[in-house]
Amino acid sequence: MSKIVVLTGAGMSAESGIRTFRDSNGLWEEYDVMEVASIDGWHKNPELILRFYNERRKQMFDCQPNKGHLLLAGLEKSFDVQIVTQNVDNLHERAGSTHVLHLHGELTKARSSMYPSLVYNIGDKEIKIGDKCEKGSQLRPYIVWFGEEVPAMEQAVPIVESADILCVIGTSLNVYPAAGLLHYARPGCPVFLIDPNPPHDLPRRVHVIAKGAGEGVEEFIIKVMSEK
Ligand code: OAD
Repeated sequence: MSKIVVLTGAGMSAESGIRTFRDSNGLWEEYDVMEVASIDGWHKNPELILRFYNERRKQMFDCQPNKGHLLLAGLEKSFDVQIVTQNVDNLHERAGSTHVLHLHGELTKARSSMYPSLVYNIGDKEIKIGDKCEKGSQLRPYIVWFGEEVPAMEQAVPIVESADILCVIGTSLNVYPAAGLLHYARPGCPVFLIDPNPPHDLPRRVHVIAKGAGEGVEEFIIKVMSEK
């Protein structure tokens, strides 16, 4: 089976009602990214950060996977599909995708603030000040913040290198190292990008589908099925 690797960003979940970060009305217009999504912010004001991610988690459970998520899950019938997502929501999994790598963490997990390998499933539960790991240190969101390493890159690079087809959906390609993954597609691997407002300065090999995720994934699937 040919392998399709799909790199997704916040635009993938926009049609589910989850706000992106950098569009107008994006989250970073309302919040200071360094206050709510950086390791320095955590040291300064952990309550604010816990509240921010508790809200994101609650909102995520009020949202449903959209047509794009569902179509990608269905594509597993015809291709080996691997999703690599910058999103911290679980909408790919809830749509039925079975191979999902999260680069920036997951809202349904908490981790120890002292021992990064102590990670706990929390589902829809809130994290509060005073919630501790088994070794007694405060729990924090299982999110990769600005100023931190992205450990999942080690797995993501060989996944992208092994793609027969690469599809990038709904990311402004502003945040590294995730944005650099595109460049690991092997020579000759077709690269598609779905975004109603695509980033500028894309490599020439990229075929742009300037549509939202739902319609764009539908068009992408028609293309890859016709060339199968
Ligand atoms: P951005 O908010 O930077 O970019 C969202 C992209 O989605 C833009 O290019 C939009 O044009 C596109 N978009 C909007 N609506 C869409 C739709 N209906 N269908 C498809 N695309 C649509 O989000 P990311 O690139 O994902 O990290 O941001 C990367 C990282 O920056 C996030 O993981 C987060 C953030 O800070 C952390 O918090 C660590």
